[in-house]
Amino acid sequence: MTQRTFSIIKPDAVRKGYTGAILAEIDKAGFKIVSLKKASISKPQAQGFYHVHSERPFFSDLCDFMSSGPLVLMVLEKENAIADLRKLMGATNPANAEEGTIRKKFAGSIQENAIHGSDAEDTAAFEIGYWFAGYELV
Ligand code: CMP
Repeated sequence: MTQRTFSIIKPDAVRKGYTGAILAEIDKAGFKIVSLKKASISKPQAQGFYHVHSERPFFSDLCDFMSSGPLVLMVLEKENAIADLRKLMGATNPANAEEGTIRKKFAGSIQENAIHGSDAEDTAAFEIGYWFAGYELV
């Protein structure tokens, strides 16, 4: 079943110049880029995006980090896109990420972990709609 997921190349990876290398991994894994834009987001935008984590102790730091510099917002499509992207990303904490995964190669810490990917169909739908208008999904 063709499925869409939402992904972010986070500010740490953009800052370190890894955008092209991460896009190459995504391309090699067979994802179609439905939409892509580079942006700088505000802390309130980050807080809205990560609202499910608002009670977590790391919430404020996470939102500061996500609004600390440019990032790349993407909608990706393939069969089984949500699970396949999470597999390609590796564990949230790069210390636990498998060899060959994007986080193993490019992430520095559990917070500055290079890439985000939706974890389920309902969160993917929310996250795509949060950042993209229908006319941008082509
Ligand atoms: P992400 O997949 O974008 O979803 C929530 C983010 O919160 C996660 O990646 C990490 O960047 C961050 N995060 C998760 N757990 C922790 C933690 N224990 N400490 C700091 N940041 C975390």
